[in-house]
Amino acid sequence: MTECRICGGEVEEFLDLGRQPLSDAFPRPGEVEGEFFYRLAVGRCLACTMVQLMEEVPRERMFHQDYPYHSSGSSVMREHFTRTALNFIDTELTGADPFFVEIGCNDGVLLRTMAESGVRHLGFEPSGGVAQVARERGARVRTEFFEEATATAVREAEGPADVIFSANTICHIPYLDSLLRGVDALLAPNGIFVWEDPYLGDIVEKTSFDQIYDEHFFLFSVRSVQEMAARFGFELVNVERFPVHGGEIRYTIARTGARTPSAAVAELRAQEDARGLAEPEVLQGFASSVSRIRDDLVTLLRSLRAEGKTVAGYGATAKSATVTNFCGIGPELVSYVCDTTPAKQHRVTPGVHIPVEPHEVFAASYPDYALLFAWNHAEEIMAKEQEFRDAGGRWILYVPEVRVA
Ligand code: SAM
Ligand code: TMP
Ligand code: ZN
Repeated sequence: MTECRICGGEVEEFLDLGRQPLSDAFPRPGEVEGEFFYRLAVGRCLACTMVQLMEEVPRERMFHQDYPYHSSGSSVMREHFTRTALNFIDTELTGADPFFVEIGCNDGVLLRTMAESGVRHLGFEPSGGVAQVARERGARVRTEFFEEATATAVREAEGPADVIFSANTICHIPYLDSLLRGVDALLAPNGIFVWEDPYLGDIVEKTSFDQIYDEHFFLFSVRSVQEMAARFGFELVNVERFPVHGGEIRYTIARTGARTPSAAVAELRAQEDARGLAEPEVLQGFASSVSRIRDDLVTLLRSLRAEGKTVAGYGATAKSATVTNFCGIGPELVSYVCDTTPAKQHRVTPGVHIPVEPHEVFAASYPDYALLFAWNHAEEIMAKEQEFRDAGGRWILYVPEVRVA
């Protein structure tokens, strides 16, 4: 049992994924000594239902100058965020001098559109390397963590924000109390705080246990977000589902009473209650499915190895750290992982040390099988890798179950 980071209630563990390394720390080969490990386990608060990690990794270990994830690496995500920015410009940023703030703007995948459109904006991005890329794309960025103190400083210097937006970042922040006090300080009276993150409902439905890793501290649901918002004087006024990153919800919260909640909130909440998403039995069932996937995947990889087939990984995702370390999949089962991110190439994967190679290595000589660690980008990747398929290559997927496609 630990204490809930939102309400102080008791958090009951339902899944232990064992000793895990930092998911985005790729050591150089030969320099793997001294890797940081922690216990990756997840539980649910008995009081407010928030699903959260049992152990927290200090934020500076994860987000720093060399944080290797670049959001602009996926064309689908580039389009998703361009559309998002243009939509805010049309609907919320219509006043005389609107102000848009983004938490975790990374390489400017969204803010570049704000800059190009001449909208006053500011990004908070503590990881210096990606923040610099965002600046080169025209974005204004503070290399800082968003929290109460930094948000208050911006409010004093630049006035209130009409929209505070964040994607794939709020679930990374265990200190959500400070963050929400910061939102309260910075947001205009009728402003909205909008963020999107992987949805617990999709994770349970797809058994996508690889969404659980150091950076994903919280797995949100409509119910847990409603409870959280209420504690800080806000109200959940809209939810939208998106297929990106394996299934996400975009949550919109506003000050209590400032906006009328949409029907979508009540509908999705009713759906969660009907399926018992926060019930212990449902989460226990999820945990059992995780063990089954591990057994099936390891059995498949071992039999392919015994048949003399070659297997490469595709996408050195943060998610894949959970899969490879939990299942014990190392270079003896997957000979390398290809990835287009320069900062990950010629390194080895966290914990199990599978070499990471540029995509050219994959294209130069296709393996018999490619284990798709970047399954959330499956459509985009399979479309561009038709030649691999035509050459007789097969994909291995493990979400929602292990299968060869
Ligand atoms: N928004 C981008 C996207 O959706 O692709 C980036 C997501 S990336 C997984 C998470 C980002 O959040 C990292 O660039 C990290 O440095 C940043 N981050 C982590 N904690 C933060 C905080 N407290 N305030 C602002 N950014 C933070
Ligand atoms: P993500 O699932 O967290 O977005 O990470 C995707 C990883 O996969 C990232 O390291 C970039 C890599 N990748 C490729 O190598 N090729 C691709 O076509 C795509 C979309 C991603
Ligand atoms: Zn709680």
